[in-house]
Amino acid sequence: MKKLAILASGSGSNAEKIMEYFQNSTKAQVKLVASNKADAYVLERAGKFHVPTLVFNKAQLESGELTAELKKMEIDWVILAGFLLKIPADLTRAFPDQIVNIHPALLPKYGGKGMYGMNVHRAVKAAAEQETGITIHLVNENYDEGKIIFQAATPVSEEDSPERIAEKVHELEHRFFPEVIASLL
Ligand code: GRF
Repeated sequence: MKKLAILASGSGSNAEKIMEYFQNSTKAQVKLVASNKADAYVLERAGKFHVPTLVFNKAQLESGELTAELKKMEIDWVILAGFLLKIPADLTRAFPDQIVNIHPALLPKYGGKGMYGMNVHRAVKAAAEQETGITIHLVNENYDEGKIIFQAATPVSEEDSPERIAEKVHELEHRFFPEVIASLL
């Protein structure tokens, strides 16, 4: 049985889909939802699934305290599901090729600094892209540059607002993220 930890900073709709997917799995279990925001809605979602939660601050992430906690819990895979802080090198070293992130665009497009949340979808709209999508990738020290494991695309039409683009991307995320994680274990 593999042990998963989810790191998330916000609403956690992806985290919820992952908890739902693995709740009766014999392959893996979500053992922890950790957030750098004490009021993140993801913590409530974890409660619904009786998954333990942890709130940490940036200093605890950067000092290696979070890494130590994940190791103590014998976590096998770290899943980033809308986690907004940069992952420090000690965490990537402690979990080589075992940290997975989801990015709401087709990397290498719309990745890198400042490209998160609605910023990504606004940039896609401003560039009049005809498609966007999701990228699920491993995390190395250069955030959005780890090995790409999976991508899926969705068309963007001229009428689509950035909000509508976000919705389409979320649909793809919810559909594919849990099963792509399962395929890695
Ligand atoms: C997702 O779009 C994900 O790609 C990005 O942050 C968003 C998180 O959404 N990294 P949610 O909190 O899972 O609803």
